[in-house]
Amino acid sequence: MKDELIIFDTTLRDGEQSPGASMTKEEKVRIAKQLEKLRVNVIEAGFPAASQGDFESVHAVASAVKDVTVCGLARAVENDIVRAGEAIQPAESGRIHTFIATSPIHMEKKLKMSPDQVVERAVWAVKRARDFTDNVEFSPEDAGRSDIDFLCRVIEAAIDAGATTINIPDTVGYNIPEQFGALFEQLLNRIPNADKAIFSAHCHNDLGLAVANSLAAVSAGARQVECTINGLGERAGNTALEELVMAVRTRQDIFTVDSRIYTPEILAASRLVAGITGFAVQPNKAIVGTNAFSHESGIHQDGVLKHRETYEIMRAEDVGWSTNKMVLGKHSGRSAFRARLKELGIEFETEQELSDAFVSFKDLADRKHEIYDEDLQALVTDNNTRRVENETFRLIALKANTEMGDQPSAEITLWVAGEEKTASAVGGGVVDATFKAIEQLVNSGASLELYSVSNVTNGTDSLGETTVRMEKAGRIVNGQGADTDIVTASAKAYINALNKLLDPGRKAHPQAAAV
Ligand code: KIV
Ligand code: ZN
Repeated sequence: MKDELIIFDTTLRDGEQSPGASMTKEEKVRIAKQLEKLRVNVIEAGFPAASQGDFESVHAVASAVKDVTVCGLARAVENDIVRAGEAIQPAESGRIHTFIATSPIHMEKKLKMSPDQVVERAVWAVKRARDFTDNVEFSPEDAGRSDIDFLCRVIEAAIDAGATTINIPDTVGYNIPEQFGALFEQLLNRIPNADKAIFSAHCHNDLGLAVANSLAAVSAGARQVECTINGLGERAGNTALEELVMAVRTRQDIFTVDSRIYTPEILAASRLVAGITGFAVQPNKAIVGTNAFSHESGIHQDGVLKHRETYEIMRAEDVGWSTNKMVLGKHSGRSAFRARLKELGIEFETEQELSDAFVSFKDLADRKHEIYDEDLQALVTDNNTRRVENETFRLIALKANTEMGDQPSAEITLWVAGEEKTASAVGGGVVDATFKAIEQLVNSGASLELYSVSNVTNGTDSLGETTVRMEKAGRIVNGQGADTDIVTASAKAYINALNKLLDPGRKAHPQAAAV
């Protein structure tokens, strides 16, 4: 029997810290349910002290999932720990993750605390967290740049105080694999009570080494890895769950551990997170990119056809890529629709949600001959986005005109806070004209930071998924839309971003000094 490698997913906390990736409570619950299907061991659902919205999200996730531990993040201060403790209350298994920085630069410049004060505070925080749960994780933030003797001292004290998991963060993504592996080896050898806790790796990808560093830590004795779906996270992101899990699973000849992850759910998780956050996956991304299993060159194709292992180290279907692609069409009925969605792991809470999705499906089937799994997933994500949207603005009608030699124009009708309003505008292209027409009605004062369109499947009748990123007074939001018509998809995404901008929820950053 191999040791279990605990997979701690922090998509909903560290992933969400990526500017523009913030998620609503409902979106977090949907992702959490998918993570449960994926069989991650721990979901870090948020930072409850950040805002009332964050508290409610962690609480909702803790109520919604069962076979997974739900964790709340807390700085080493009273209010954070109490809020985290309260937020995880409904969980069958709840954890508090408390942290304080231990690198000289963070202690001196951010915390303005001496090393002795940091040790004292770490011990206090772990003991206080134990008042709420006996599952307490402690992180010496910026461990990757901390003094090893000091790390040993603070970690030994935290374990004595009751920490059951010790997480070692390379907060700024500075380490390289050899060094990070050696750090684990030294900590595990030198800390006298190291055997009383599970050691965990938490890596950032600033040098593109997050997965490699996490694997080095695992080889050196780490038994938990913290990661996010698609490697989502601030700056260059965190360790990508799908890459880490598949590296360990594929190289069982090397690793003495394995995770309990049910890998066929990986692709669905990747698509869900990309759809909700608007952070698209690059085509050549390992495991979940659209090209990850396609063989272009004749020599490769020939080899794969003769014997797939000549060029394939993993099976596409083992991570959720289906070979049976065309699934439904114009004549498919409601029960075939429901059954296929169920096979994809999509279930509806109410009959009304199913009916709404079925209406959208019929509408799509009128415009698109063959409906693929990817279309169904995008359609449901699009429907859910609009259902949970705080609907100050809603798209009612759109007319766009383009003719070579003439200026493109658009006329849009929106529902604006209870009133139907129409405006028209011209622009450099029809999408530009559409956004200008929307702005005439809304006058948001926000700036457009990013606009992207990607095809869900091949073919010109494919659903286009559109992302719009907007910024106003330092706040960044992403809006999403999907439609076979990319101008409509773009308008939906723009309106979705506007609705999110109006949502007042502002939150504190957990890594800001609180002590
Ligand atoms: O990167 C980091 O140091 C963190 C801590 C809060 C664990 O995310
Ligand atoms: Zn982090």
